[in-house]
Amino acid sequence: MIPDIDSPPTLEWVDDHVRIIDQTLLPAEVRVVELRTVDEVVDAIGRLAVRGAPAIGACGAFGVVVAVDEALRAGGAADPDDLAGPIERISGARPTAVNLRWAVDRVVAAMDGLGAGPDRRDAALTEATAIFDEDRAACDAIGRHGAAELAEARTILTHCNAGRLATTGIGTALGVVYGKAMAGQPVEVYAAETRPLLQGARLTVWELSAAGVPVTLVPDSAACGLLHSGRVDAVVVGADRIAANGDVANKVGTFSHAVAARRAGVPFYVAAPLSTVDPGTADGAGIVIEGRDPDEVQSPDLRAAHPGPVEVWNPAFDVTPADLVTGIVTEKGVLFPDFTDAIAGVLGRT
Ligand code: MRU
Repeated sequence: MIPDIDSPPTLEWVDDHVRIIDQTLLPAEVRVVELRTVDEVVDAIGRLAVRGAPAIGACGAFGVVVAVDEALRAGGAADPDDLAGPIERISGARPTAVNLRWAVDRVVAAMDGLGAGPDRRDAALTEATAIFDEDRAACDAIGRHGAAELAEARTILTHCNAGRLATTGIGTALGVVYGKAMAGQPVEVYAAETRPLLQGARLTVWELSAAGVPVTLVPDSAACGLLHSGRVDAVVVGADRIAANGDVANKVGTFSHAVAARRAGVPFYVAAPLSTVDPGTADGAGIVIEGRDPDEVQSPDLRAAHPGPVEVWNPAFDVTPADLVTGIVTEKGVLFPDFTDAIAGVLGRT
């Protein structure tokens, strides 16, 4: 009951390029693709071939190394002037998951003050590898803390995919599920399908089935009734950005589960590494929500059937207010309200 995160890995650095599973094709096909240029990195992040906040952070970090190599190949020095444009394109490929900009900034800072291109490249690769390794370790710790906190919770509802496909390790929300399984606790999962791109139906069901964890798919619209029925012990979801006050941006639909869980008296947990916490954003109102292509919502059949254009609002994420969150499971332990104090404390900012 643990995911085989090494075959093939969600994301890895091989010699001079990033290798990812193209998640747009799952579960029908497990295709590994190579990202050798900044264009390819930006495209893979933007079209969700690689996705999930920690995974795109790691991909962006290695993307900076790709940018350095590209600049050196073009005869440049890979200095800040050379890199400013490519780095901004990588950082901006998805705006909500703070891990992406955080990871890119960390790699850029690691090159600070180094003159020679090859030295800068070495420093970038070392830092990106550290980000990759730290995320893997954070997932393990989240799994352990989550299993201790949720030892009595047998049936978990989750949304989207916050598993091994979304991180460099065993996942965050699903890390808690695997942590429970590894601790010998009985665990089963309801996976909400996650309209419109079906990360729950396609990715979470595939990943948990492969790991041997019992999983039942539910339409997003059935989750409220499911929670009301008393068949769920806890909701556990991931996060793309957690504001300083504990407001949580995560895949659109998460907020509905939180409201329904509160109404049903079911605890609602967020599992995320501290790299997802953004102390620079005071509350959820300050989180930029990525708007996505209307075509993700409109099927070709629907488009063909409508006589004229249909206006579509397709936000990728929503913000769950902190007061609906029972606890935030991090690699440093579980945070409880008051989240402003708890977050400041764990980040060492008190
Ligand atoms: O648009 P996606 O598929 O990248 O959205 C992913 C999520 O919302 C996850 O829950 C979040 O990034 C946490 S992944 C550990």
